Amino acid sequence: MKLKVLVVAIVAAVITSCGGEGKKEEKVAAPVEEQKAVVEETDPMKDKGVGPITSVTLGEIDQKMADEGKAVFLAKCSACHKISKRVVGPALVGVTTRRSPEWIMNMILNPEKMVAENPIAKKLLAEYVAPMANQNLTEAEARLILEYFRTKTAPEAE
Ligand code: HEC
Repeated sequence: MKLKVLVVAIVAAVITSCGGEGKKEEKVAAPVEEQKAVVEETDPMKDKGVGPITSVTLGEIDQKMADEGKAVFLAKCSACHKISKRVVGPALVGVTTRRSPEWIMNMILNPEKMVAENPIAKKLLAEYVAPMANQNLTEAEARLILEYFRTKTAPEAE
């Protein structure tokens, strides 16, 4: 009895693997290498954006820098951004896990070009409608805010 079931299963497997449907699917699926390339191109963490920042090296989180960054954030960004809640702009909780450090700093320093040329920023503008304002920060200030964002990977009560 068991053997019969097994034979039926094998026959069924052979029939489906020879079927035209299966072959068609094989042709449509891209080779693994090609698929990998597409994933890399669209991986937001590999997108550095457009602007003055081409490379940022991160070490351990520097709490003093993060505290200074928080002060700049509260003064220059909090009219449009909260950490845990969407306001005019997106909630920024976990932003360092979805965007590269270079992208974040370029968004702060060069938002006009970012929303005009960078695919991720363009999409955000389409969603949020209001354009992100350039707050004319120095690169050092933008770096402090990046450090602050690195401490905000979980939602906070506000
Ligand atoms: C006038 C409102 C406004 C101000 C001020 C502003 N932003 Fe934005 N920000 C936005 C909007 C709106 C977006 C979404 C993109 C767009 O619509 O241009 C955005 C997008 C962002 C993003 C991308 C978020 C994501 O999910 O990828 C980051 C990071 C960011 N802002 C950081 C800052 C920082 C840091 C400051 C202060 C220096 C700041 N913003 C000041 C409105 C603002």
